[in-house]
Amino acid sequence: MCVGGRVEMSAVSRLCTLLLISACFTLTSAEHYSIDDQAGLGRVFDGIGGLSGGGATSRLLINYAEPYRTQILDYLFKPNFGASLHILKVEIGGDAQSTDGTEPSHMHYEDDENYFRGYEWWLMTEAKKRNPNITLIGLPWAFPGWIGRGVNWPYDFPDVTVSYIVSWIIGAKQYHDLDIDYVGIWNERNFDIKYIKLLRYTLDKAGLERVRIIASDNLWEPITLSVLGDEELREAVDVLGAHYPGTTSVPAAVKMGKQLWASEDYSTFNDEVGGGCWARILNQNYVNGLMSATISWNLVASYYQNLPFGRDGLMTAQEPWSGNYVVESPIWTTAHTTQFSQPGWKYLQTVGHLTHGGSYVALTDQKGNLTIVIETMTHDHSVCIRPPLPPYNVTAQTATFSLKGSFASLSELQLWNSKFDFKTKKPVFFQKLAPIKVSNGSFTLDLDVDEVYTVTTIPTGLKGSYPEPPPSSPFPKTYKDDFNVKNPSFSEAPDFADQTGVFEYFMNLTDPGPHVYTLRQVVTQRPITWVADADQTVSVIGDYSWQNMTVSCDVFMEKENSGGVFVAARLDKGGGSVRNARGIFFWVLADGTYRVTSDLSGLSVLAEGLSGTRANTWNTLTLTVKGNFVSGELNGYLLWKNTVDLVPKNGWAAIGTSSFELAQFDNFAVQAE
Ligand SMILES: *[C@@H]1O[C@H](CO)[C@@H](O)[C@H](O)[C@H]1NC(C)=O
Ligand SMILES: *[C@@H]1O[C@H](CO)[C@@H](O)[C@H](O)[C@H]1NC(C)=O
Ligand SMILES: *[C@@H]1O[C@H](CO)[C@@H](O)[C@H](O)[C@H]1NC(C)=O
Ligand SMILES: *[C@@H]1O[C@H](CO)[C@@H](O)[C@H](O)[C@H]1NC(C)=O
Ligand SMILES: *[C@@H]1O[C@H](CO)[C@@H](O)[C@H](O)[C@H]1NC(C)=O
Ligand SMILES: *[C@@H]1O[C@H](CO)[C@@H](O)[C@H](O)[C@H]1NC(C)=O
Repeated sequence: MCVGGRVEMSAVSRLCTLLLISACFTLTSAEHYSIDDQAGLGRVFDGIGGLSGGGATSRLLINYAEPYRTQILDYLFKPNFGASLHILKVEIGGDAQSTDGTEPSHMHYEDDENYFRGYEWWLMTEAKKRNPNITLIGLPWAFPGWIGRGVNWPYDFPDVTVSYIVSWIIGAKQYHDLDIDYVGIWNERNFDIKYIKLLRYTLDKAGLERVRIIASDNLWEPITLSVLGDEELREAVDVLGAHYPGTTSVPAAVKMGKQLWASEDYSTFNDEVGGGCWARILNQNYVNGLMSATISWNLVASYYQNLPFGRDGLMTAQEPWSGNYVVESPIWTTAHTTQFSQPGWKYLQTVGHLTHGGSYVALTDQKGNLTIVIETMTHDHSVCIRPPLPPYNVTAQTATFSLKGSFASLSELQLWNSKFDFKTKKPVFFQKLAPIKVSNGSFTLDLDVDEVYTVTTIPTGLKGSYPEPPPSSPFPKTYKDDFNVKNPSFSEAPDFADQTGVFEYFMNLTDPGPHVYTLRQVVTQRPITWVADADQTVSVIGDYSWQNMTVSCDVFMEKENSGGVFVAARLDKGGGSVRNARGIFFWVLADGTYRVTSDLSGLSVLAEGLSGTRANTWNTLTLTVKGNFVSGELNGYLLWKNTVDLVPKNGWAAIGTSSFELAQFDNFAVQAE
């Protein structure tokens, strides 16, 4: 009954969300599907997108040399080329750890405003250059500490938080000519009804009526119930966005009629199973849950792979030092939808599951164009990271589609196909096949398992390509940075991945000596966090597999008496686990002492003693680790050496400070073995 009643597919879709999915397969053997707009259309399609940030997931992308950086951006955003994304969602940096690093805030301090930090402005500009119609979204994960007046909560002073967020939207327009289309509340954390209403009111008052609000980037239920029970809130919220919905929504949200989005989804290792996950949810988020947009966390895997959720992006670009990048299968499964439909098109009501497993959706521009996307991904070849995927079966099948209504007289359709082919491990993605001749209003496809098809009136599809990028190679074993950049394009130095705190290029024009251009840690107060940031600041760099290395850096403490800075080797944890990072840390403090510890928190002390170090003078720290032998030098003089039973055996090089305090770094160098 579920699949049999083809004409009433919108009712069927709703029914399918209520029944177990498996029940939808068992009750019919029909293999005839109608594509029909006579009974009206389904929901407006809002697009497919990628999420940069949440956090620091595009960190390494900006350091690619040309032409590779342009090529990667083309694969992501250029229309009719690769993923051709409709939506770019970015993090509104909050100076705090938001999964794979920190992203800088446009307001580190209450009296500070700077709309040129980080890389999200640049990324939005590059995306817009390629696709002027791209939908832009901003969402905070964390907030600078001053927002909460010392409390780890953003809603105690809602007017402060609202004006902070609205200033980001105004700055986007003023400094980058970027129109932000949607803004969210607080990623995967509590929302506050008063805050949302004030945000709407303040946006309107600032002439930003066009900026729409997504709530609440978390689960369906709490926001749906709140919106149902509050008319003013209902008017303030434009889109209900849920994360990792497992292709289903809730009946109350569907009934309300607001647009429903998978406002964050995917997060799966981007091998072929990841591509399968993405193909399945792009279709079934609408078929099962009537979601009209799906956004991938993350856009592009441009962070060290040993940070949490390595390679969970639509493609991989994690080696700016080699120029190597990989156009992974999710790029092409995205293209199956994005190259042949646009936001503003409408889904047909005749969408659904295929009799022997898989699904199909149909979209129209209401001007006669039609795009049908079919996927037959099997269970084991399309598992996403979350939520668990209940078992189901898919077998090879023959499917006949009858074109009715506006589409009855179409005579030829373009055909695109991806074959994952897990048996031979020779997948073929996004190939153009001979056009389909529609005979007597219908066409038939032989569908194998693990395939994606697009059948469309749109003739412009293209599998874009560039010459092979350079081969993959490890991070260089000899690496130096003197930070002498007069007009940096980005606020952060190449390849440093901040895990707590923010490290920025700094210029001290009154310095008569060699330290005019430095790298400065600038977060001076614990942020309103999204995960447990460390109590120290830390930025990592290099190759996680490094065992033996010498790390050296000139350091300058700005905090008198109680300040402290370190260089480290074999640092083993970043992201949400950064508090528990171990390794070997060599600290000097402004109270005239030094310390060697085996953890970032500084609790496991291996050695300590006098160093004579003070604030506001430059010192050079050198840390050498070889096997279990460790030595630390200050300004070229040995302070300490010993053989210790070191855990971990490998990890990144790092620099940092002993608290949220200003400090500078210069002439960083690492020599790994
Ligand atoms: C942008 O949208 C407009 C109106 O829908 C359309 O005419 C135009 O072709 C689109 N531009 C691109 C680059 O897609
Ligand atoms: C389909 O879209 C194209 C633009 O992509 C447009 O020129 C054409 O008129 C539309 N309608 C049909 C039936 O192709
Ligand atoms: C899948 O097919 C197998 C073998 O025919 C059967 O045992 C199993 O119950 C099916 N699973 C589902 C979820 O239909
Ligand atoms: C064409 O389709 C109509 C209605 O679906 C059917 O009655 C007719 O027999 C078909 N003709 C051919 C040649 O298949
Ligand atoms: C800038 O340089 C001057 C002169 O060396 C020094 O006194 C001052 O502390 C430096 N300021 C900062 C913020 O580094
Ligand atoms: C690191 O140094 C130790 C001691 O010399 C040696 O046993 C080990 O093989 C070295 N590791 C690497 C990766 O070179």
